[in-house]
Amino acid sequence: MDLGTRLLWGLGSIVAVVLESQDTLAWYAIALAYLIASVCFIFGLKLLSHPETARKGNFIAATGMAIAVLATLLAPGIRNHLWILIAIVIGSVIGTVIAKKVKMTAMPQMVSFFNGMGGACAALIGLIEFKELQYVNGVIVTSMGDVIGSSLLSGHTLAILGGILIGSVSFSGSIIAMGKLEGFVTEKSVRLPFQQGINALLLLVMLGIIGYTLTLEQPIFWLPLLLFVLALIYGVLFVLPIGGADMPVVISLLNSFTGLAAACGGFIYDNQVMLTGGILVGSAGTILTILMCRAMNRSLTNVILGAFGGGAAAAQEEGEKVVREISPSDAAILLAYARKVMIVPGYGLAVAQAQHTVHELEKLLEERGVEVLYAIHPVAGRMPGHMNVLLAEADVPYDKLLELEEANEQFPTTDVVLVIGANDVVNPAAKTDPSSPIYGMPILEVDKAKTVIVLKRSMRAGYAGIENELFYYPKTRMLFGDAKASLEQLIEEIKQL
Ligand code: TAP
Repeated sequence: MDLGTRLLWGLGSIVAVVLESQDTLAWYAIALAYLIASVCFIFGLKLLSHPETARKGNFIAATGMAIAVLATLLAPGIRNHLWILIAIVIGSVIGTVIAKKVKMTAMPQMVSFFNGMGGACAALIGLIEFKELQYVNGVIVTSMGDVIGSSLLSGHTLAILGGILIGSVSFSGSIIAMGKLEGFVTEKSVRLPFQQGINALLLLVMLGIIGYTLTLEQPIFWLPLLLFVLALIYGVLFVLPIGGADMPVVISLLNSFTGLAAACGGFIYDNQVMLTGGILVGSAGTILTILMCRAMNRSLTNVILGAFGGGAAAAQEEGEKVVREISPSDAAILLAYARKVMIVPGYGLAVAQAQHTVHELEKLLEERGVEVLYAIHPVAGRMPGHMNVLLAEADVPYDKLLELEEANEQFPTTDVVLVIGANDVVNPAAKTDPSSPIYGMPILEVDKAKTVIVLKRSMRAGYAGIENELFYYPKTRMLFGDAKASLEQLIEEIKQL
């Protein structure tokens, strides 16, 4: 054989091997893509932990998801590309429109809705995969042609049933949570008679269905269907008794459920990136839930069984109480001649969309030599990091934002605290009144400063629905009106000094 023939023969053999092992090579490439996607998720999550790097983190994690989706679409054995692409386009358009239109104040509802959709997907995957199980010649075969044995007792079936249970609870629970925040479900705690007993019984029945199904030798489809329906009911009953103010904690908990349900999908399809993604969502959701409970000084059991925000009213003091109002011009003088001013933003700042105006006031005061800092309570507003996001939108430098402990150390040396649309997070009842529903929640101790000026529209309560003694303290001055309008007046007055 001459050299040319040898070369041609060699090349031909390589092509033949490559063609023969095309699937194997494709799986190596997909495994690599999944690895890259998983690294993107982890790295993205890490960057999300600081406001300065959060945007980049979000982008990197989204890129990871795009890589994972693309790799899966190109995987051998994937069919119906057109239908998948149509679903992706419809989902992307709906998601983009909702995310672009949503008001900052309605962000938790949106997160809850998206989370619910994730749970529904996981539950539907479970139902479809159970329906696809085939009984062939005495053995059970999965939709991917794998034999799981002579009975349903296998990790595969357990992952299917687990996905149905957890995904459905997460779906219906998230929709109720969204309804409570959006106002189409009462935000109050709704309890059925024997609620806890009913919930425990439902849970037992569902676990019983899972256990019984696993012992079967042939799949019976109505069992997972019944599990699906009962889990939907359980999700509703689980969230209904929880008061509106605890919804962020519940949403975060349901978020971790969705992560677990997605991880079940990873087991079903032996798909590593789905497994990694699910576990990351599950653990991140759990950590966030724990952190929020700590910020409110409450246990998760207390959140789930308690009635915080569900209408419990704090013990009210008897006797005449005096509210001291202040005019914008007097407030401007106090601020302009202060040495140190601490701004405490709350939900009202978000409602008034006054983030840019407060930044303008801060710059104006700094030009006059006043030191201005912001005190950020971890549950101020209506979602984790709400105030950070709001102030970042107005380009307030991150180093001006103090966390709760740091801020509390600074109040005794602060001349004026400007409380803008915050209420519960500065309510001293959390420290002084054991009968208060917010008792034990760490608060910003603004009364340690020389003077407190509160910007709000009326004497109405905040989210927890309770009165705030701070507004009657001798050192507190109330500047009534919409936060943005009041801040604009303050700016005008300071400019004239
Ligand atoms: P809140 O206690 O809810 O108080 C907000 C205050 O803002 C209200 O008292 C309201 O009084 C005032 N306000 C509303 N619109 C205003 C406007 N346009 N201009 C001026 N003031 C306005 O807020 P907070 O202190 O930020 O506390 C947050 C509460 O929400 C906590 O109870 C927390 O547990 C709960 N929560 C937190 C989250 C998270 S994770 N951040 C999520 C859900 C619930 P007026 O009506 O008199 O103006």
